[in-house]
Amino acid sequence: MFSFIKEKKIIYKRQKTAKVIRDFDIKTDLVYDQSKCVLPNGFAKFRIDELLEFNGFTLKLQQSEIRQAMSCGQKIFLSWNLPDYVWQAVLESKKLLNTVTNYLGPNVRLDDLYVKSVRDGLQSVSEGWHDDNVGYRLKVFMVFDVEGIPSNTILMPKNRPNLYHVNVVDELARTRKSLNTDEREETIKVGYEAGDCLVFDTNLPHRGDYASGAGVRHCIIAEFIDRNKADAIVGKAPCGPGQGRRKLQIPNSVRSLVEASKLIDKKLLSVQDDNISYGY
Ligand SMILES: [Fe+2]
Repeated sequence: MFSFIKEKKIIYKRQKTAKVIRDFDIKTDLVYDQSKCVLPNGFAKFRIDELLEFNGFTLKLQQSEIRQAMSCGQKIFLSWNLPDYVWQAVLESKKLLNTVTNYLGPNVRLDDLYVKSVRDGLQSVSEGWHDDNVGYRLKVFMVFDVEGIPSNTILMPKNRPNLYHVNVVDELARTRKSLNTDEREETIKVGYEAGDCLVFDTNLPHRGDYASGAGVRHCIIAEFIDRNKADAIVGKAPCGPGQGRRKLQIPNSVRSLVEASKLIDKKLLSVQDDNISYGY
């Protein structure tokens, strides 16, 4: 069992980081223009091919190795090795660039990019109410294929400004692994069909409703954050390429695209011969 002192320490650390996060997010709110933003309450649902302006992208993913990688009884599959056409799609879409820039401001960067396939029934801390403890940050959740009817994501939509404060009750529940899955007012349930894409601010209270479904979601997840904020909180809050723990390997064939992209934080990019990596 977690000791009271340990819990207090965790919350104290979170609150210290929360102040730094708010200082950056206040600046982002100053440049935020709701009339230009397609995420009015911090989220929107698209079709993947439409958001990435790439007809046939979903089909290509369905027929790819990353779709085949999860075996029958496997509960979760995670990989940061993505083929060049995924990098290309993410970095070339003007619609995606505008969506994330309008929400997060001019210092936005691609913060992470990975494949995640999840079979329902997985007991996870993501099942309980939480925010991601990084303030404003967008997750682009591309559900490129499903098996059965996968479970929903439940969100609590909120308008900006919606500054981050540590939710002590939810955080303690997560620390104790006693998940808060209570019904809350003004929530929306987002279900998924193959090809759906949810873009949402992980600062909104949210949870995976893993108990509701009996399917599998095959997803590519792209995360976007203010680069200066991420630099200030990395190691203290969950952000950074490879979840702050590993460098992403980028295929050499997209080198020029990566080097020219506004979404790539050049100080995280290292290019040596044929090897391109992205991360701290
Ligand atoms: Fe989350």
